[in-house]
Amino acid sequence: MCGIVGAVSERDVQGILLEGLRRLEYRGYDSAGMAVLDGKSAVQRAREVGKVESLAAAIEASPLSGHLGIAHTRWATHGEPSQLNAHPHMSGDRLAIVHNGIIENYQELREELKADGFEFTSQTDTEVVVHLIEKNYRELGKLYDAVKTAVTRLRGAYALAVVHADEPEHMVVCREGSPLVIGVGIGENFIASDQLALLPVTDRFMFLEEGDLADIRRDSIEIHDREGALVDRAVSRFEHSADAAEKGEYRHYMLKEIHEQPRVIKATMEGRVTDSRVLEQALGIEAGELLQDVRHVQIIACGTSYHAGMVARYWIEDLAGVPCSVEVASEFRYRKHVIQKDTLFLCISQSGETADTLAALRQAKKAGFRAALAICNVPGSSLVRESDLVIMTQAGPEIGVASTKAFTTQLTALLIFSLALARKNGLSAEREADIVKALHLVPGQVSDVLALEGEIAEMSERFVEKNHALFLGRGSQFPVAMEGALKLKEISYIHAEAYPAGELKHGPLALVDSEMPVITVAPNNSMAEKLKSNLEEVRARGGELFVFADRAANVKPEENIHVVQLPEVHEITAPIVYTVPLQLLSYHVAVLKGTDVDQPRNLAKSVTVE
Ligand code: F6R
Repeated sequence: MCGIVGAVSERDVQGILLEGLRRLEYRGYDSAGMAVLDGKSAVQRAREVGKVESLAAAIEASPLSGHLGIAHTRWATHGEPSQLNAHPHMSGDRLAIVHNGIIENYQELREELKADGFEFTSQTDTEVVVHLIEKNYRELGKLYDAVKTAVTRLRGAYALAVVHADEPEHMVVCREGSPLVIGVGIGENFIASDQLALLPVTDRFMFLEEGDLADIRRDSIEIHDREGALVDRAVSRFEHSADAAEKGEYRHYMLKEIHEQPRVIKATMEGRVTDSRVLEQALGIEAGELLQDVRHVQIIACGTSYHAGMVARYWIEDLAGVPCSVEVASEFRYRKHVIQKDTLFLCISQSGETADTLAALRQAKKAGFRAALAICNVPGSSLVRESDLVIMTQAGPEIGVASTKAFTTQLTALLIFSLALARKNGLSAEREADIVKALHLVPGQVSDVLALEGEIAEMSERFVEKNHALFLGRGSQFPVAMEGALKLKEISYIHAEAYPAGELKHGPLALVDSEMPVITVAPNNSMAEKLKSNLEEVRARGGELFVFADRAANVKPEENIHVVQLPEVHEITAPIVYTVPLQLLSYHVAVLKGTDVDQPRNLAKSVTVE
């Protein structure tokens, strides 16, 4: 949700900033801008509507040059995508700022600053921040003090980077509710919303804590915490190789990420399971004792991560016999909830920075629970830092806005967790071994599904002219159907809904006709026979069925029934495997429709605002 990047160096920073923006574009891409200082003149600024490449073209035509700079790629919240609303925002011609987040009290501050004589040129909440800093700068004469004083007036979420032409040797940055990482170089330093932006220039990072304010110079980084105390923040090395963030031979990141799934699912299992059992210590030293106390699991997440939580509920209740509730974070945080003391509060988030998920966790902490467990893909993210136990998914950087490998690795981690919890609750060693063995087969089964890509791509041609689609599943395949529908709508813009197949006759069947493709995930499991009756209900109404089933499910291709035969899989691990053909289907429909697969309209990868 907006990406920011900054650099202070001896060399010219324009190229570093531009490459950083390209790598952050997944966070927002309706406009982009850059401000650079050369120590002599006023701030040089360029801003363009559209993707980073529009900015790159503008800068190529009239280059900016200097050793200190900040840049931004925007996902509009306040004000339409336009040049005037694009960042960096300035007060006068010497002070510039980039911001990720939302200032909730911006209206009030705007009125106050207007009364002080400041003129506003944009509709953004950010512009109040830059004028507020300028107002303080006039009184205090030092950029650091001006930012420090200004942020005490801000309510909401922000990561800010600020530069002033009169102090061209440093930038001042801070974070409250939005991510910000410092990239540590040699004789140069950087900041960004995400480590990926800085991988071409460094692999050493410091993560700012909430409320931190930092002074970044070429040869020094000074950080003060919320109370004003000088603090050290540990430097850690980036764990994934730089090319993990490249597209390689694939046409889109999404396709690359779909194909990475066998490897990353395996990586997520590594060190956490033996041949026949899960290693609960791998969930944390205290995990054993803690899981013993858990009597209820409350899962909180958004979007795709929420669907992973929905699958996990089936596992937790089936295998561990522990009651489990699942709720989307944006609802949970705004209602009165009852949390029992022996609840494990489980947050699932690819980015670990989703504002709603973090807010729900912080609120629930006040109410009290036994412990917080995070399932997350980004080391050092806010969610990881604020949780008691963490299971890191090993998906590596996920760049495509539509989540794919993050989801299947979340499921892998959730199944491992469910088994660890189940063992504390009487799961037999035989059943555990049976499921762990099935889990070891998943990477191979996912590879087998990927080999069906040609067949699925051919099938996708039948969707190009459609405006709607229904996805059906039963049991733990219902959330898989939900995830399939979400993928299709977000990247191909076809309206799609998912239903538990048994609900069909209670309403949605009225929608079924020859124009309504019905996609069904139908492994041969305890629900297979019931599901087949539901398919007959669709057929009888002239609906066209697309069924993903294994041989044992015995669904025969006929007129208006297209069947893709998947490998036979264990009922427990089937949701992981059955997700993959639906990802491929959405991908190929989107490619045929010519949409922007990696950066679908109106969306952003990391939703760090409400
Ligand atoms: C959909 C998608 C989103 C995210 C959601 C939560 O493909 O990616 O629905 O799953 O915004 O994001 P995280 O998992 O980062 O909390």
